[in-house]
Amino acid sequence: MSYGCLWKIRIEYQYDMKLKDLIKNWRALIIICALCALSVCDANAGSKKDSFQIGEGSFLLNGQPFIVKAAELHYPRIPQEYWDQRIKMCKSLGMNAVCLYTFWNVHETQEGIFDFTGQNDIRKFILLCQENGLKVILRPGPYVCAEWEMGGLPWWLLKKKDIKLRDNDPYFMERVKIFEEALADQVKDLTIDNEGPIIMIQVENEYGSYGENKPYVSNIRDILRGLYGENVVMFQCDWSSNFILNGLDDLVWTMNFGTGADVDSQFADLKKLRPSSPLMCSEFWSGWFDKWGSPHETRPADEMIKGIDEMLEKNISFSLYMTHGGTNWGHWAGANSPGYSPDVTSYDYDAPINESGNPTEKYWMLRKTLQKYAADSLPVLPGLIEPIKVDTFSFTQIAPLWDNLPQPITSEFIQTMEQYNQGYGSILYSSELPKGVEEGAVLHVNAPHDYAQIFIGGKYIGKLDRRLGETQLLLPKTDKNERLDILVEAMGRINFGIAIKDFKGITEDVFFTETVDSVNLTVGFDYWNVYLLPDYLEFYTSMNFQSLNKFELEENGRYPRGVYKTVFTVDKPSDTFLNFETWGKGLVYLNGHPLGRIWEIGPQQTLYVPGPWLKEGENELLVFDILGPREYISFGNDKPVIDKLQGDALKTHRAEGESLYLGDLTPVFGGAFAQGNGWKRQIFNQPAKGHYLIIEALTPGSDVNYVSIAEFYALDSNGERINRETWSIDYADSEDLLSGNNSADKIFDLQESTFWKSEDDSNYPQRIVINLGKEETITGIEYLPRVENGSPGIIKDYRIYITETVPQK
Ligand code: GLA
Ligand code: CA
Repeated sequence: MSYGCLWKIRIEYQYDMKLKDLIKNWRALIIICALCALSVCDANAGSKKDSFQIGEGSFLLNGQPFIVKAAELHYPRIPQEYWDQRIKMCKSLGMNAVCLYTFWNVHETQEGIFDFTGQNDIRKFILLCQENGLKVILRPGPYVCAEWEMGGLPWWLLKKKDIKLRDNDPYFMERVKIFEEALADQVKDLTIDNEGPIIMIQVENEYGSYGENKPYVSNIRDILRGLYGENVVMFQCDWSSNFILNGLDDLVWTMNFGTGADVDSQFADLKKLRPSSPLMCSEFWSGWFDKWGSPHETRPADEMIKGIDEMLEKNISFSLYMTHGGTNWGHWAGANSPGYSPDVTSYDYDAPINESGNPTEKYWMLRKTLQKYAADSLPVLPGLIEPIKVDTFSFTQIAPLWDNLPQPITSEFIQTMEQYNQGYGSILYSSELPKGVEEGAVLHVNAPHDYAQIFIGGKYIGKLDRRLGETQLLLPKTDKNERLDILVEAMGRINFGIAIKDFKGITEDVFFTETVDSVNLTVGFDYWNVYLLPDYLEFYTSMNFQSLNKFELEENGRYPRGVYKTVFTVDKPSDTFLNFETWGKGLVYLNGHPLGRIWEIGPQQTLYVPGPWLKEGENELLVFDILGPREYISFGNDKPVIDKLQGDALKTHRAEGESLYLGDLTPVFGGAFAQGNGWKRQIFNQPAKGHYLIIEALTPGSDVNYVSIAEFYALDSNGERINRETWSIDYADSEDLLSGNNSADKIFDLQESTFWKSEDDSNYPQRIVINLGKEETITGIEYLPRVENGSPGIIKDYRIYITETVPQK
């Protein structure tokens, strides 16, 4: 083992006793070594004769049909010290390839300055795959989605305010080309033609869920062709419902879908259009990602195995996304939209190999299945790392935020964080009230990205949470010239859908409204002092620290906002999970390594600490807490807590005892959906106008005792889908949060694999009220039932209501 000798290594569960006896005999050992060397050569995607091509209905490796069994792994999400262990875990699982994205924004954190070293050494990662006898599928973006900050695009692109991302915008394309060239300099000689392991290269990523733009996708293809040559197999991945939109004639088309999906129907359209295409599920989702404030996501192991088994039986290639998810260190977690749903730090993904590199039940089940399709017995597992506990320790020092503000920049107008040349962290906008106000005046912040705290005269008056669409706050009675502070913390930039152009800080303007003598006034601010609080370790450590002894709990039950420090000791370093349940919200650094974001609402309460980042003896821990802890302690556990919601976290969309009252509201449409998988479209007899749309499911279509919706659209007067960015769920009769996270907002999360499901043994009708965010004229709807075989929970009879005012409860 190369992780230093200090990790306790559990002997491989399935250690073969006969092998052990053999090893006692040194002669046998020499033979084994020789055989191993031979088999590595053989498995290495490196020998001259290797070729990878598209055949009739199959991929061909050296002219022979080849089923790709790829494990999706992301090098930035795994500590470099563990790359080899994770790759070996995939090999032992029975995979024959690793599929990986490249993450532009970790390599080019500043425009024009590239880093491909250490944790960013993608060449080394690919060579490690090769050394372990695995092929590689390279997905060089430029956009990758992946629940990663801005889908992998660098924030500094937004300094050009009018940039069009993932489009033929000249500046965007110029920077894409420069990045792709720098990347290709690292890896282009590792394609199979050059005796390397790379067998396939992906062009862009699921462009169909962003838009329709063949000229742009073609340009990306041309850049990659130019760099990697004519021979390498190139492909596009999309969903079965939209791959046609941007499908280029000369690329292989692969489908993405997840655990539970009906495999045949996923490939039905592709088979019709290209009967002799090899079939591949380029992302078979093993689990799912977690979002702050939402229940922890899991997907059933047996369903996942069933999908893989079925694909292998039908000679369908796949990549298992994720086989090992890893961690969104530092500020790299992205966010999803419509709306704003920031992702948590852990990217465990309920994958077969958990966040700390250990096999789960899914792993053992899948290994058994993959063994069925393997010619030889699968290699034993590499050494496993056993997590340790660390006793509870206290923090000793604090640098209170308000005493440690940097010099401000003064400007007449509010600008976004990007305009001040800051990418990540927090930003404080400060001004004074140009006039006194009475209680009842309303402060408008358009729009806080992403979590704003408002203070008047140094006193906290409330927060505006972008997740909840909050942009207004009632002001208390305040005197003229009183100081107003708006502290805005940026979370991850949106990584999915059209909202990826996601500016941070305050994106437009701030003003207040009040009514004086029946006259409505709108009042702006004369100037702003802007304090930049970038997420750099040096920024935090340069602050002025004091002993925590003299600080008391404040009125709100918390210690002050600021940077907290301590040193704790560890005897024998190994992986651990540091607990932050008593902390507010912020970022954590250990011995200089950014561990990630914390937020008391959960569901994640612990941060994964890889053993190699701990030291024997003293370890320095630093937390920037923008809310302040309730208790400044922590401890290490040998298990993570990633499924615990706390406090005011979102739960269901119906308050206890609440029920919906529609009175004499008349439906704008009533009908019955055609049964079976796939999109259903219904145009109303006449258009209807309103702010709220109510879906009323009257009867279930399938023989299950609940109803379900995977995706839902409303159509405008041209029959086009209305933008759902402003939508939120106002109410749902019931939501099944027991068998998985099947909340009502899943009907417009742009993901066909996620769904709302009413609770088991539902009463009917089951209704969902959508707040459209503004008045819309609606001419019809589109409904996608679940993508599983038989579309479980498909609605039969239904009614749609549209109303101007919020429905009564
Ligand atoms: C899509 C994207 C991936 C990832 C998954 C969800 O398939 O291509 O990058 O975002 O969804 O985890
Ligand atoms: Ca969905």
